Amino acid sequence: MTEATTTIDRYGVMGYPISHSRSPVIHRLFALQTGQNLQYELLQVAPENLEKAVRQFQRTGGKGLNITVPHKSEVARLVDQMSARASTAGAVNTIAFRGTEIYGDNTDGIGLLRDLGVNLGITLEDARILILGAGGATRGIVGPLLEMQPKALVIANRTIDKAQALVDQFKSQGPVSACHFNVVPVTQSYDLVINATSAGLKGEAPPYPAAAISEQTLCYDLSYGLNPTPFSVWAREQGAAKSVMGWGMLVEQAAESFNLWRGIRPDTAPVLKQMHINA
Ligand code: ATR
Repeated sequence: MTEATTTIDRYGVMGYPISHSRSPVIHRLFALQTGQNLQYELLQVAPENLEKAVRQFQRTGGKGLNITVPHKSEVARLVDQMSARASTAGAVNTIAFRGTEIYGDNTDGIGLLRDLGVNLGITLEDARILILGAGGATRGIVGPLLEMQPKALVIANRTIDKAQALVDQFKSQGPVSACHFNVVPVTQSYDLVINATSAGLKGEAPPYPAAAISEQTLCYDLSYGLNPTPFSVWAREQGAAKSVMGWGMLVEQAAESFNLWRGIRPDTAPVLKQMHINA
């Protein structure tokens, strides 16, 4: 049996669930802006069908994929080659099909750095950074954040062993330490507090450490929504200098994926504006 192929370059995002994803809108805006002829599809794929779906997309002429929750770690096992940053993160969020080869990259970390540095104007060198959570999202951002040479990077987690495992992985790269939520060192406040827990998505409110926040602190939630997330509401209530959600990171990581696929980096500012989600 032959499968249908199309001449227009095909891309898409695979996740489960996926209907909420804004990636198609973002990539269509990038394509319009840069004059690239491509289509971008939403692909709902259950975990047990992931490998089959990726290989079928490749077989039918697909050029590239974004990979999102819950497939980012699993898909790392399917790729033939991986960038160093994807390997460090243990997760792939972007695939490029190169002939018969599958290449994996991870643009989440650079997406966060660009949002913090370019869009929000934050200097990370010598900054004190606190990350709440020690799951896959944290693993993807610790390496890139340490490259910016912060003064301290503390990972606080409900399950201390997971935070400690990340410290063991990254301690040769910079001043990283682990603790439980209720013993976060707060002799000095933090310049940046990042929520990387999935608690908000589940409607849960963990005991975030209020003493870590001062009127100088930027609070950044890797989660985002049309309404403020529980963490961003909480951060505002604690008097943080600024409290933002991860819309900017979403658009910036998409721009990096687009660049990998098409060799052209779109201007993200008008896309953020057009989406009415300016961080
Ligand atoms: P992701 O890939 O999105 O990071 P994950 O690997 O499942 O998802 O990690 C979720 C993170 O959110 C973990 O740090 C988890 O804490 P544990 O390691 O203790 O499980 C954290 N998390 C989820 N719900 C939480 C809650 N109600 N309170 C505190 N932390 C929570």
